Amino acid sequence: MLSRAHAIRLRAAAGRRAVSFPRNDNVKVPPACARRHEPAAHGAAHAAPTNVAQVRQLSPFRYPGGKTWLVPEIRRRLITARQNPALLVEPFAGGAMVGLSVAAEGLAKSVVLSELDDDVAAVWRTIFHGRDADVQWLRDAITGFAVNEVNVRAILDRPPTSDRARAFRTIMRNRMQRGGIMAAGAGLIRAGENGRGLHSRWYPETLAARIDALRRLRSKVTFEQRDAFEVIERFASRKTACFFVDPPYTAGGKRAGTRLYTHSTIDHQRLFATLAAVKGAVIMSYDDTTEVRELAARHGFRVETVPMKNTHHTVMRELVISKP
Ligand SMILES: C[S@@+](CC[C@H](N)C(=O)[O-])C[C@H]1O[C@@H](n2cnc3c(N)ncnc32)[C@H](O)[C@@H]1O
Repeated sequence: MLSRAHAIRLRAAAGRRAVSFPRNDNVKVPPACARRHEPAAHGAAHAAPTNVAQVRQLSPFRYPGGKTWLVPEIRRRLITARQNPALLVEPFAGGAMVGLSVAAEGLAKSVVLSELDDDVAAVWRTIFHGRDADVQWLRDAITGFAVNEVNVRAILDRPPTSDRARAFRTIMRNRMQRGGIMAAGAGLIRAGENGRGLHSRWYPETLAARIDALRRLRSKVTFEQRDAFEVIERFASRKTACFFVDPPYTAGGKRAGTRLYTHSTIDHQRLFATLAAVKGAVIMSYDDTTEVRELAARHGFRVETVPMKNTHHTVMRELVISKP
């Protein structure tokens, strides 16, 4: 649970209403959040890894390449920045853990998410822009679903006839397919956690509660199914915007992005050039490769390595590339 002092600091930083964490939330804000962010040396490494189990999960997705582990780092940066951004833009939204956390914690006045994938888009559109009846239908479909292979295959094999039905199929597929991979070719979970098979990632009441909580954020969150470049360029002249950019990674010989996402071809050179020209702050997350480091250096970005501990307690490192 957050200490009262931390809650007050968060509230002051957000410049308005209290940030409401559930009472049993075990999110830990690192002490560094009380200080102004000190510029780190180029390529500096953070000491303590974030444990993903300590971050409150808001997204209904278990998104491949999701950035739950980066939430404390982004929170720290936004809180210690001179002022919170008026707008957080997450142009490659996917499971949108950063954008959703920023909206929930009041770390920006509003959040714009964009994503190209038709299936992922259906989820965000239903939750943030659907009718109340659509959201109710979605949560009822989740809580009322009888999990077995016949029912799962029936949903996966039938083309959805509405956006909300596509949203349901997407959440189901994300939780029933191995590794949460939604791109074509991923098989269904067989054994799963503790041999629970298809049930192992299906927590209907939790998913329904997350959908309800996100729906309550709808006045702050706008979702658009658009190309990331178009969205970045639209907000490029906003000094008070902060861009959180987590593209599929296919540069530097890494091909994971191709396997995980339907849309994975990005001109990384153009992305760096576009972001170097925006007036607002930029925080990017990338795999640590020579090519990415060169692109960051060429465009004058700061580079840091941030460690994270996954649920198996393995420490992994990614690059956080930023400009204030
Ligand atoms: C690394 S994932 C983002 C994960 C996200 N940060 C999270 O926490 O779940 C990258 C996402 O970008 C999307 N994408 C790829 N190309 C895009 C484009 N041109 N415009 C918008 N989204 C795109 C992919 O579909 C994928 O969902």
